[in-house]
Amino acid sequence: MPTPDAIRWQNEQLELLDQRLLPSQTTYLPYQRAEQVAAAIKDMVVRGAPAIGISAAYGMALEALYLASQKDANWAENLSSARTILAASRPTAVNLFWALERCDPLLAKHADIAELAEALLALAQQLHQEDIAINTRIGDHGAALIPEDSLVYTHCNAGALATGGYGTALGVIRSAWRDGKLRGVIAGETRPWLQGARLTSWELMQDKIPVTLAIEGAAAHLMREQKPSWVIVGADRVAANGDAANKIGTYNLAIIAKHHGVKVMVAAPTSTFDLTIDGPDIPIEQRPSEEITHSRGNPVAPDQCQTHNPAFDVTPAELIDAIVTEHGVILSPDRERIRQHFADAGVK
Ligand code: MRU
Repeated sequence: MPTPDAIRWQNEQLELLDQRLLPSQTTYLPYQRAEQVAAAIKDMVVRGAPAIGISAAYGMALEALYLASQKDANWAENLSSARTILAASRPTAVNLFWALERCDPLLAKHADIAELAEALLALAQQLHQEDIAINTRIGDHGAALIPEDSLVYTHCNAGALATGGYGTALGVIRSAWRDGKLRGVIAGETRPWLQGARLTSWELMQDKIPVTLAIEGAAAHLMREQKPSWVIVGADRVAANGDAANKIGTYNLAIIAKHHGVKVMVAAPTSTFDLTIDGPDIPIEQRPSEEITHSRGNPVAPDQCQTHNPAFDVTPAELIDAIVTEHGVILSPDRERIRQHFADAGVK
């Protein structure tokens, strides 16, 4: 059974699969305004860098449709406020800002709100569809690097649920499985939101790809005992120097992988690259304490316990063996190789 769509446009409104309830419930929530979409991004109804970007584009379209229906004379100002609210939802995944920047020329071009609304909706639908095709290409480029009879290790969820469909890291895994190269997948559980346990294991089991769930603390032991060929992860932002921000714990895995001779692959579309900054300058989202002091509403730490809860970390380029985009593979990524990859692909 294919993974349900994370994002769908139905009955003139946006519907987001509430990923907080997976895998026990498949519930879609309806959205009519940008502010609601921003809250859905912040509250993790929808998550994963490409899915956040696509949702933000739909958020702009929804707001424009609403302003057109109200015949709002201040629509330009109100749409600009909606853009600001969407941009403030989560700071690390650059796809959010990339998608909003894709909307900007339309805001400048259309003087009529009804026309602008139609154009924004067409753009959101285009970004959504293109993302699926991009992920299929990432999957095929990445799968070419996987040796026969491989066990691979993945972290968080960079699957269909995190994207328009097919997935980035899970796209590579899906293509490698299709090509008969995989013996199995280890999914790290990914505290505190358990994307590995709740989402990745579920996606892979639906595709009948053999997956074994493990706690993060088992990573070094498993890499020594089970010898995966690759750690394959997605990214929230790849910097100009090749450093990659991804779900907290990715950096740990890359260090452990290096020690055990396991290669590290980052699978990400070019929309996840930010060539304006280096890794240390990537903004890291801090999430609420309750996410780690409580589990499903029950306290698992002393009252008032101080916490650190960064949602992402930055893996230095020297720990990454390959970055895979829709345009191909960047081996041993560094500033020059990334620049060249973009130049060869003709991507600005
Ligand atoms: O906090 P999340 O669930 O949005 O974090 C998601 C990740 O870290 C993914 O690995 C990343 O966004 C890539 S998704 C293709």
